[in-house]
This record gives sequence, C-alpha cells and structure tokens, in this order.
Amino acid sequence: MPAHTFHTSGPLTGTIRVPGDKSISHRALMFASLAVGESTIDGLLEGEDVLATASAMRQLGAGIERGDSGTWRVHGVGAGSLLEPRQALNMGNSGTSTRLLMGLLASQGFSATFTGDASLSGRPMNRVIEPLSQMGANFEASSGGTLPLTLRGALPATPITYRLPVASAQVKSAVLLAGLNTPGITSVIEPIATRDHTERMLAGFGAHIEIGKQDGERLISIHGEADLTPQCVVVPGDPSSAAFFIVAALIVPGSDIIIENVGMNTTRAGIVHALRQMGGSIDELNPRDVGGESVADLQVRHSALTGADIDPALAPSMIDEFPALFVAASLAQGTTRTSGLEELRVKESDRLSVMAEALTLAGARVEEHDDGLTIHGTGGDPLTGTPESTSVETNLDHRIAMSMAVAGLASRSGVRVDDTAPIATSFPTFMDLLAGATQ
Ligand code: S3P
Repeated sequence: MPAHTFHTSGPLTGTIRVPGDKSISHRALMFASLAVGESTIDGLLEGEDVLATASAMRQLGAGIERGDSGTWRVHGVGAGSLLEPRQALNMGNSGTSTRLLMGLLASQGFSATFTGDASLSGRPMNRVIEPLSQMGANFEASSGGTLPLTLRGALPATPITYRLPVASAQVKSAVLLAGLNTPGITSVIEPIATRDHTERMLAGFGAHIEIGKQDGERLISIHGEADLTPQCVVVPGDPSSAAFFIVAALIVPGSDIIIENVGMNTTRAGIVHALRQMGGSIDELNPRDVGGESVADLQVRHSALTGADIDPALAPSMIDEFPALFVAASLAQGTTRTSGLEELRVKESDRLSVMAEALTLAGARVEEHDDGLTIHGTGGDPLTGTPESTSVETNLDHRIAMSMAVAGLASRSGVRVDDTAPIATSFPTFMDLLAGATQ
C-alpha cells in the first residue's frame, strides 16, 4: 500500500503522450484472439486490467506475446474454438474484462469460473447475467449476483433482442459478444448511446454488424456465427487518462501543455465539452483518424474556471471522468451541479461518496446527493485541507487515486493518497509523466 503526498506543483508544460485506450485495448486482445491467424496490436495499454484480459485469453487458448518493439502479437483460435480454462479466470480489478468475457463465454460449450479483487467482487453482475441467461447460459453467482461466479455456456445459444435497462457499454458488449458464436441475429437496443468501440472494432475484424434505429433508439445487430479476420490494430491514447492531465493543466497557474494522440470518439469526449463549458481552454490540434477512431493532440492552458450545471445527457460520454471533473469544480468560481450519476456508485468504488469524502478532507465544499454532487469552488484559490497526516482513501479505485493526486497539485498543504498502487490498473506511467510535466 504505497501512500504518497501530492504537493502544489509548478506549471504543467511540454508535450506528453498518455498510454493506449483501456476499452480499445481489452477489445483488441479479445477480438484478435477470436480471429484465426496472427493479429498485431500497437499502442496496447500495458496496465493490470488489460494484462488480466491477456492472461484470460491465453487460458482460453490464444497465443499472446509482446515483441521487443512493444508490438503485441496475437494468434487467434476462432470464435467457436475457445478452450475450457483449467483454472479460474482471475480478473483482478477489471469490470470490463469480466463482463465482456462473460458474454464471450456464454455461447461456448463449457464452464468457467471468474474471480476478482475485493472491489470487483462487490460489483453487480446481474446486469449481464440476466440477458446472457435469456440466451441460455447458466450462472452460479455469489450472493447479490457478484463474483466469484461460475458460468456454463450454452451451445448453441439462443439469439435475443435486448433493450439495455442501464446505459452500459459493458452490458451491450457482453450481449453482442455472446452473439458472435450464436447462429442467427443477436440485437441490442440502446436508449442512450454508450461508447461504441465494440461495434466499430468488430466491423473492422470483419463481423457482420448492422447499426440502425428502432423507435428512435440505437439498434445494433450482429449476425452469428461470425468469422473474424486477423487485423493490425493501432490503439489511440486514452481520453480517460488524458482527463487527469487536462484538469491538472487547467487548475495549475501558468500551465500550457500538449497531450498528443488523444482519442476523441464522440462517445468518449464528454469531459472536453464539460470543461470547455466551465471556461477551460482546450484546443484540438491536428485532428486525424487512427485505427478507425478520431484522434487529436490537445493543447490545454491554465484557465479561470467557472461552475456549471453539467447536462446529465453528457454522462455516458464521460462516465469515468467525473472524479476528475469534481476536482476541476472544486477549484472553479461558483457552483457546479451534477445529476443522473447513479452509475458512479457501482464503479470500482462508490465514486460519489468516495470523492465527496476525499475532496472534503482536501478542503473542498461538497454536497452529496443520491445521483450527483454539488460543489462550491474556491474560485482558483488552493484547497486548504486537513493536516497531511490525514489520508484520502482510494478504495482500490485508480481514478480516485489519480483525481486526488491532481487535487494535491492545487492544495496549500498537499493531499495524501493512502494507496497509489491501483493507478497501475489503467495508467502505469502516471507518476512519471506527472513528475516530468511539473518539473
Ligand atoms: C467500459 C464501459 C464503462 C466504463 C468502463 C469501461 C467499456 O462501464 O465505466 O471503465 O470498456 O465498455 P459501463 O458499461 O458499466 O458503463
């Protein structure tokens, strides 16, 4: 449990590159493992969550290795030819690995057991168990529909049309991945659009995917059984990781930084819109396409932020960025109100209550509601918190640790984070990049 105190820093300057997108990295490893032959992946995020997916795919029969140049080579086995794992699949902290793999294995003719750390073992899995049971899979889960759980796949599974009761890309993806090895058409209806990496990348791997509308809602259909073709995937930088540096540069006086190669897919870029609404200076330079995804270099300058009412409709496109946004709001002039964020309570931690507590300890004025936080900012003055001996608790949540690290940069006496180890799940180079950018 390495604790660390983050202190006021000099301005963030220079040019940095954040690691590869976590969502895209998981999917690249999974889909390459299903395509018979060799795929390559460049820019893969080498964080613990993605490495958990890699080791699970190896247990299921794929050959996966990292070349010296950083290119990953994946030898896929085919969507219908995965092997029964001999041991439990340990998913660590990763909800994405768990829910997407549950989908993939729901239409295979064998059993698999999923385990995870204390955070993952408290997270709800009924949201995927329900549609996958409709497709014929069987589940024995721990009480409340949590890990450890054992799944017995159905072969053949039954195609379904499933309307998402929660805005969740993981649930959407689980159903579509179950549909890959299911004869017929499996469809998901999305009342609210969520990140679309699964459907984009599956189409790139040659799956027959259709995207349309039904009663004004997004309808995504996959035709099984699918034959995927090996690809050379290039993973863009993760906007969710960039968010910490965007907020840091906005709140630390004198900052002017360029963050290269940031994914700007519209289903992910809500944080940029919200921070611009608060007066943040964020310019998109050199917009381009990388591996079928929009990418830009972002120039971010220190800005006098003002509080704002954040439109709940933006939530799905910035669902992982609220902890960072709450930090920006704590330093803004005036009040920021957020709502419609019940989903934040079932992430790696309950991000509404954990951030409310952590920011309050750091000296921010925060009110917690059922579905959001209201934050009264300092108007740019540094946070004045409790003595350094008080640690904010990260609860095995990487994004809490990094958000509070950023809060520390704009605090009078520093913010002590009780455990920085979880940062390695999504952003193993965070501490080095932060030290380099604030020199
Ligand atoms: C993800 C979807 C989101 C997000 C998570 C990654 C994905 O979860 O919070 O970090 O890669 O599909 P939900 O589907 O639970 O919203």
